[in-house]
Amino acid sequence: MPKKVTKAIFPVAGLGTRFLPATKSVPKEIMTLVDRPLVQYAIDEARAAGIKEFIFVTSRGKSALEDYFDHNPILEQELRKKGKDDLLDTLKATNMDSGAIAYIRQHRALGLGHAVWCARRLIGNEPFAVILPDDVIAAEKPCLQQMVEAYAETGGNMVAAMEVPPEKASAYGVLDVSEDMGSIVSVKGMVEKPKADEAPSNLAVIGRYILSPSVLTHLNKIKSGAGGEIQLTDAIAADIGTENNVFGYRFRGQRFDCGSKAGFLQATVAFALARDDLRDDLARYLSEISHVGKAAE
Ligand code: UTP
Repeated sequence: MPKKVTKAIFPVAGLGTRFLPATKSVPKEIMTLVDRPLVQYAIDEARAAGIKEFIFVTSRGKSALEDYFDHNPILEQELRKKGKDDLLDTLKATNMDSGAIAYIRQHRALGLGHAVWCARRLIGNEPFAVILPDDVIAAEKPCLQQMVEAYAETGGNMVAAMEVPPEKASAYGVLDVSEDMGSIVSVKGMVEKPKADEAPSNLAVIGRYILSPSVLTHLNKIKSGAGGEIQLTDAIAADIGTENNVFGYRFRGQRFDCGSKAGFLQATVAFALARDDLRDDLARYLSEISHVGKAAE
């Protein structure tokens, strides 16, 4: 039986250029879907999967993230005085146990693989999860929890996989599948951002991983790959054919690419429509403006 996964890395050191000018001073991961920052969704998903140690790989200008997980005694005192217990409960979910959260700096944005490598000393010789907070997944059972359960059977390395149309494949790492077992596929290769006609399948890797520590050893040796960045995909692919084989996991749920403006807007609408306090007004508004749009055509 594989070791339990209790550590997760959250790489949040990217420049977030697609959201400039906002990301000039606001970390992308602090931007909110309705009223919760992206990073809160990521933390909740990790907790549901049994993660106990949360390792953030940050960079210059991300201090708002560190503040977010701290207690705010003045605010809490004010809320208590006013009897706002519901808001106090909401704040509780943002507080982390002492010592459960660690921050490591990535001094230069050399790529996702490099960001994960920066956390190597905190991982040691254990399997670990990687969560990209800008991939938000709405699911009945949180995606990482689904993966942890599947990983208990397979061990090795596991990446979340999603079917994408061929013209979109070049935006992702794509799996070369050796055996398709339904929700789990075994993988014989991985290609980062393939040309449209060279994608080995339509299964793309998205931002959830369970990795064995040997991937960190490969990252020691890997030079920059696609786009001049040190790619995590290349280090995972280097494990194929070892005792830590690679599996793709077709998760159940809907993934929103909140690193892109269109994905962020779609997620905002979807999460607002899921809320009792917002659904009716928003649905009415959306139906009104779609009528106006149709009339204009
Ligand atoms: P993205 O490819 O979305 O890059 O990174 P980005 O910098 O965040 O955003 P754009 O493309 O400039 O708009 C995917 C994930 O990897 C992290 C990012 O923070 C994000 O969670 N990352 C990327 C790092 O931590 N370090 C890097 O050097 C690159």
